[in-house]
Amino acid sequence: PDRVPFHGRHQAGIITPQQLFAGFAAFDVLVQNRADLARLLQRLTDHSRVLSAGVKPKDERTASEPQTPDSLTVTVGLGASLFDDRFGLAGHKPRHLKAMPSFPNDRLEPARCHGDLSVQVCAEHPDAIVHVLRELSRATHGMLRPRWRMDAFMNPSRPSGSPRNFLGFKDGIVNPDTESAAELDDLIWVTPPCGEPDWAEGGSYQVLRLIRFHSESWDEVPVRRQEEIFGRHKASGAPLGGTREDEAPDYRDDPDGRTVPLDSHIRLANPRTRRTDKSRFLRRSYNYNQGYDRHGQVDLGLVFCGYQQNVQRQFATVQHRLRHEPLSRFITPEGGGYFFVPPGVRDEEDWFGARLM
Ligand code: HEM
Repeated sequence: PDRVPFHGRHQAGIITPQQLFAGFAAFDVLVQNRADLARLLQRLTDHSRVLSAGVKPKDERTASEPQTPDSLTVTVGLGASLFDDRFGLAGHKPRHLKAMPSFPNDRLEPARCHGDLSVQVCAEHPDAIVHVLRELSRATHGMLRPRWRMDAFMNPSRPSGSPRNFLGFKDGIVNPDTESAAELDDLIWVTPPCGEPDWAEGGSYQVLRLIRFHSESWDEVPVRRQEEIFGRHKASGAPLGGTREDEAPDYRDDPDGRTVPLDSHIRLANPRTRRTDKSRFLRRSYNYNQGYDRHGQVDLGLVFCGYQQNVQRQFATVQHRLRHEPLSRFITPEGGGYFFVPPGVRDEEDWFGARLM
């Protein structure tokens, strides 16, 4: 189906099967009071609703030509900075929302971090992303100031199975089961008793990280060593010692890491113990490519995108486990932010964050 329902208990674009293209943008809010903030969120909602249905907002220059819906989703998140004195929202902040901290291997550029609002636009074609971000900018002119943006995409699956990232490894193999209501309520959605404000129920914490790859160095590393760094075979995507990408490694049979090294990415990220089970979260990342930097080096990497019930218990815990992983020599997180994605827009009367306002 090429139309993703806009209305629902949760925002679209989280458990929606990953579309091929994405645009991630963060904005600062220019309006000064709560009534104007409500108007801004209503306007964002109205335009996102219309665009998701595949019809352009009324505009005589583009006439009434219908547009294909393109599996378009618009997902709106709120940054910690929105919950300040300007709008009197401090008492309503989601419990775990704060500005994304700088982790040990990070080289964060302030101009590419944080924001009052995040907008994730996903679709099956790149022109839809550009179109929607333009329309949303136009609709909110004077109310939002762009802070940073990254356009990104999925690679095709080669030759089969999960698509590869630009380090050449299959990515996105293991994720929580989005068909399981229990798993979603345990890991992705804010559900009582999370201790979160009522308005946040049905929402999710979004983590965005702009992670640059040091491709030149990586390409010098022998494949055998690359495989140890990830803990998976490069060709098949199978965990080391296995043959199929969808095989689950059993670390209990490998306590010393002779097969899958203890410091490999997959083993640190998910040690598969009962205690670490609650730190799993949904990854929905995309690749980016920005040509050459001013030193003539390729500028590419990952827009790491994660959704979870509790950013502290999940992303931050996993990131902490990964702090000394050998992969960190080949990547540099340069930007991103923590956001809270409010629950879905229920119907024509509802809007993003209505229950917060
Ligand atoms: C798994 C790549 C950053 C968490 C994987 C896999 C690859 C990969 C190739 C194995 C295939 C799969 O299951 O999807 C990368 C790259 C990164 C990166 C290139 C940075 C540029 C991160 C970060 C986190 C993370 C920052 C979280 C803090 C995970 C998790 C898994 C995983 C949870 C699944 C492990 C499992 O359940 O077996 N990643 N990753 N990754 N990664 Fe990353």
